[in-house]
Amino acid sequence: MTVDLHSRYLGLQLRSPIVASAAPHNGESLTARLLERAGVGAIVLPSLFEEEIVGEEIELSRSLEQGTEQFAEALNYFPAVDAFVGTADRYLASLERIKGEVTVPVIASLNASTAGGWVRYARRIEEMGADALELNLYHVAADPLRTAAEMEAADLELISAVRTSVRIPLAIKLSPYYSAFANFAAAAVQRGADGLVLFNRFYQPDLDLDALDVVPRLELSQPWEMRLPVRWIAILRPQLGLDVSIAASSGVHTGTDVVKGLMVGADVVMMTSALLRYGPEHIATVEAELRAWMTEHEYTSVEQLRGSASQATAENPSAFERANYMQTLRSWVAPRELTATSPHRVPDLRQKS
Ligand SMILES: Cc1cc2nc3c(=O)[nH]c(=O)nc-3n(C[C@H](O)[C@H](O)[C@H](O)COP(=O)(O)O)c2cc1C
Repeated sequence: MTVDLHSRYLGLQLRSPIVASAAPHNGESLTARLLERAGVGAIVLPSLFEEEIVGEEIELSRSLEQGTEQFAEALNYFPAVDAFVGTADRYLASLERIKGEVTVPVIASLNASTAGGWVRYARRIEEMGADALELNLYHVAADPLRTAAEMEAADLELISAVRTSVRIPLAIKLSPYYSAFANFAAAAVQRGADGLVLFNRFYQPDLDLDALDVVPRLELSQPWEMRLPVRWIAILRPQLGLDVSIAASSGVHTGTDVVKGLMVGADVVMMTSALLRYGPEHIATVEAELRAWMTEHEYTSVEQLRGSASQATAENPSAFERANYMQTLRSWVAPRELTATSPHRVPDLRQKS
């Protein structure tokens, strides 16, 4: 039996639903070529971060100002300024290079902090030939004076501003922390998003007790983390309809993870951690696992598989919503080692009731 893996995402025709999500090495030619050779459907470049560019611009203007105060030395600055190639230029150059080296769609990613920054860099990314643009909305709602409604309104303004300034397809990569997630997802689509990437994964810093300092901690994802996007895609797919693209991101490691994402209604399923752990070739392994599962279960195409579980959730939305909460709590069974000998053993309250 032949299995057709062709998939559609953001209006792009992909050879497979397995996509490499934003990660540092995706911007390097070797990795991009290896991903393509392993059969990836599309490649998302790492994000271009506006704050990094702004930092560089501040540094540059500081050196120029210092130069003008001491005229003789100032002349020495000009060659350096001419040769200045900033993060944005390097990013655009890498986008252009990779577009020339692979035939699969290349999706650029942008994380800006000001409205002007989003529009300016989005336009440059489009000019450089990106097949689509992913906006990586990332902030921590730590300001006690800003309400959820104000923060959401600001995000929606950004989406609108970028939408009106570029013509390439636009995906919004979201965090799961919006207060009313389904409402925000629908609003993002209404403002012109062609697709949603669910979810971005946040990294919590740690405290180094020796240095008494906050240190970054980046840990790769575990497969159980996929339950969050699976749940939300199952809820959102019937609400958003089939015209909106959805990508599952977080915790995708194997072919069966890809099956789950597609079944609840994702158009593509993205991987970063697994590719960092096992290398770009892992795409081929996951594809083989996906094909084997589909063959065994008599699915002939991604089209047929996609959303096959989402009809069930449309008829019984509570399966992924509230009712499940109670069942999940009641389903807890203490592991044998806890009930037998451990001093911290969990009392089995169910037997007493
Ligand atoms: C080292 C590393 C770098 C990442 N860089 C970016 C980035 O630049 N932009 C972005 O939107 N996501 C970035 N991500 C998040 C991934 O694209 C992905 O959404 C997340 O890791 C969850 O997927 P996973 O479980 O397959 O890793 C990064 C993740 C890792 C581990």
